[in-house]
Amino acid sequence: MIKFSHFIIGFMLLLCACKPNNKENRTDTKSVSSILDKRYSDILEYPLDSMAFPRSMDIKTGDINGVPSKDWTSGFFPGNLWQLYKITGNEAYKIKAEQWTAFSEKEKLNKASHDAGFKVYCSVGNAFEITDNQHYKDVIIEAAKTLISRYNPNVGAIKSWDFNSDEWQYPVIIDNMMNLELLFKATQLSQDSIYYNIAVQHANTTLKNHFRKDNSSYHVIVYDTISGKPYKKITHQGYSDESAWARGQSWAVYGYTMAYRFTKNSSYLDQAKATALYFINNKNLPEDGIPYWDFNDPSIPNVPKDVSAATIMASALIELYSYTRDDQFLNYSKKVIESLKSREYIIPEKVKAPFIFMHSTGNLPANSEIDEPIVYADYYYLESVLRMLNSQK
Ligand code: GLY
Repeated sequence: MIKFSHFIIGFMLLLCACKPNNKENRTDTKSVSSILDKRYSDILEYPLDSMAFPRSMDIKTGDINGVPSKDWTSGFFPGNLWQLYKITGNEAYKIKAEQWTAFSEKEKLNKASHDAGFKVYCSVGNAFEITDNQHYKDVIIEAAKTLISRYNPNVGAIKSWDFNSDEWQYPVIIDNMMNLELLFKATQLSQDSIYYNIAVQHANTTLKNHFRKDNSSYHVIVYDTISGKPYKKITHQGYSDESAWARGQSWAVYGYTMAYRFTKNSSYLDQAKATALYFINNKNLPEDGIPYWDFNDPSIPNVPKDVSAATIMASALIELYSYTRDDQFLNYSKKVIESLKSREYIIPEKVKAPFIFMHSTGNLPANSEIDEPIVYADYYYLESVLRMLNSQK
């Protein structure tokens, strides 16, 4: 097993290989690596509690927002432990990952939202990939059955949310593309094409209705279930209906890149490329690659950033690069990983917290989780690290 800090130093030096390797650079790399060690051991030490999956925290008070498994983010913490097990080879992460995954499994039967994908795939999906335990395979297929119960063939999409039903009849959010990975995987595991077919139909409907001429994505499309047609294009978490909410753009690129992986449909790849270019060439994207929470907030640069949008995009673009060999994509991912290894973004060593990075924004219009550590930013960072390492094998 590689000693963890050596592994991280090695990884960071690899990323720095293209830069002049001066003494100052090496010193900073070393100290950042010891902060990361502390961050990862805090994740391991976070106490087991099935009602308190760590979701986010108030960095000033140290209060951790712990949520039950029904919360859409519950799969990420077990996923972080599985990914840290892969990175370090340390069995202690695996033991904790199994325990947290067991808490999240019951979500396979929860029909209350489209989030079965996030909840089950990020925990149980990782568990299955790593252990090959057939029990996890059954959970994935059961969760996929649950998710397709929300599909309406007249609309050709899975319904995202049941709340605010007076405001929208049948809302479909761009985030929902992420949940299709569960369906594609369920067909591979079960040999039943129903999951694949629904995933493809959902992706096709979203491709038709969710994108603007400039290839940015709307957040919410509201459908009429009688005609099957969209009747409102709006936002829920962005600055305005016509703005480009940063994380939504990342979900879109990740979603269509992943859908291309399973289908080889070139129109999915084209959309992923086009939305990725919208994002990485945007005049409002800061030099360090970490976007503000919404590309069209008129108060930029005096607005919060969203590290989660950057890590989701970084992970997606490592995969997109593997299909396109377009250096712009990989360069963005490298830039994000490089930018994040700084004290500006990593939670200081002295803070006890089961998270890695500060400066994500969950839902600014609802005044919720603004400029905070949020678990899914860490999840996609760790996935980016793993993808980068795998691509170098
Ligand atoms: N619904 C997932 C998100 O907030 O990005």
